[in-house]
Amino acid sequence: MAISTITVLGTGYVGLTTAALLVHAGYTVYAVEPHKERLDVIKQGRSFFYEAGLDPIVKTALDSGRFIPTDSYQDGVPNSDVVFSCVGTPDNPDGSSNLTHVFDSAEQAGQLMKPGAIYVQKSTVPVGTGAKLATKFSELSKDISYVSNPEFLREGTALEDTLLFDRVVVGGNDPLAVGTVLNVYRTLEERRSSIMKIAGLPYRNIPGEYISTGLASAELIKVTANAFLALKISFANSIAKLADKSGADVVEVMNAVGADKRINRAFFNAGRGYGGGCFPKDVSGLIASGLDYGVDLDIVQATKAVNDSMPGYVAEKLQDALGGSLSGKRIAVLGLAFKAGTSDARRSPGTALANLLSSSGAVVQAYDPKASDEAAKNLVSEVHLTNTLNDCLKRCDAIVLATDWPEFTSYSASQFAKTTDARVIVDAVNALPKNDFREAGFTYLGIGR
Ligand code: UDX
Repeated sequence: MAISTITVLGTGYVGLTTAALLVHAGYTVYAVEPHKERLDVIKQGRSFFYEAGLDPIVKTALDSGRFIPTDSYQDGVPNSDVVFSCVGTPDNPDGSSNLTHVFDSAEQAGQLMKPGAIYVQKSTVPVGTGAKLATKFSELSKDISYVSNPEFLREGTALEDTLLFDRVVVGGNDPLAVGTVLNVYRTLEERRSSIMKIAGLPYRNIPGEYISTGLASAELIKVTANAFLALKISFANSIAKLADKSGADVVEVMNAVGADKRINRAFFNAGRGYGGGCFPKDVSGLIASGLDYGVDLDIVQATKAVNDSMPGYVAEKLQDALGGSLSGKRIAVLGLAFKAGTSDARRSPGTALANLLSSSGAVVQAYDPKASDEAAKNLVSEVHLTNTLNDCLKRCDAIVLATDWPEFTSYSASQFAKTTDARVIVDAVNALPKNDFREAGFTYLGIGR
């Protein structure tokens, strides 16, 4: 099937990246965004969140005349050969995914789609959701194929992950539709070196795998991959706790353990635990799926329990170093983004730490180079945000490094010593050279170091 026109529903990290890249792959792309403020920014050729290299990609897409941001399904869906759903799936209070947007979008799009078109689900949904949606589409009797195409991009490296991918997974009941969607990615792959150039990002020629699967498998692949990465982090954090007690350095341990190619070094950084829009939700979602199907996923439950314990573990370390009480102590929290390289502060460990320290009686000031605005929504009002690193470091008793932004990690121990009165630093991301800080007169505490 020849594809010329595509609609992308939702313009978050996944949707906007996908839409803009598909324009560069040669397609005409409608991107549907219901929020006026976001849409206005996109129409100016920019993204409304920070993502390396994305602005020039959105700008040039818009300049081509084949990128149409809109708030209406009506504009693009009826002409589209393929509709990608990238709508949000917030979590319910019990940790399961709220699929309201997923079902509503499918319903709305289904009414408008032309016969024979393909509906591609990129939003992460619990295994079994696709079967229900595929049934709904088949009830429309328009020969619409439903496929699952899980997204593996990380925030901060969204373009790189989408273009220089390890694998593209497409699952469905209709092999022809699966093949058509895989071909869309092949078209993108052919142009990836020139797209990376426009984005101003380095290009590496790495061969990616194209994997076609059944519908349920594709859904399960996504959450399983994320839960396994989260498991690696929680595993490293468990070993870090033992390293703290036994005098080992978890960085040395996990580096050497990860040197075994069967195990792999990635996602072994111990610290304040994982956050963000995916891992916490996907781990909870997998636990909820297990419960739904009556399967005990206790290893996934343990992953969550270890992660939930980490902010408290960091706070306790700090409390011990400050003589047993946090009350009235001035603490500088550096880093509110859930990781470096993004303005996203969803379920951010830095934000959780700032709130926890504040509720334990500390006077907390916090700084982030990109995520302060986002973080402010989730910070308790007692946490004071500063505009610069220097302001944050002024007049404090201790420092907690919660995100490994280069602005922090490139600041030397002697620069820290000059800027701040604090002589206690908790490196909750294990990103600082511990010996330098100890030599500069700091009580340096890593996690498992
Ligand atoms: C993740 C997956 O990596 C990606 O494939 C998926 O599509 C979406 O979820 P993302 O949430 O953007 O991506 O960030 P990632 O780089 O995976 O980090 C997630 C969290 O884990 C961050 O809070 C990060 O600081 C933390 N982390 C990561 C660790 O604590 N230790 C590590 O070793 C790696």
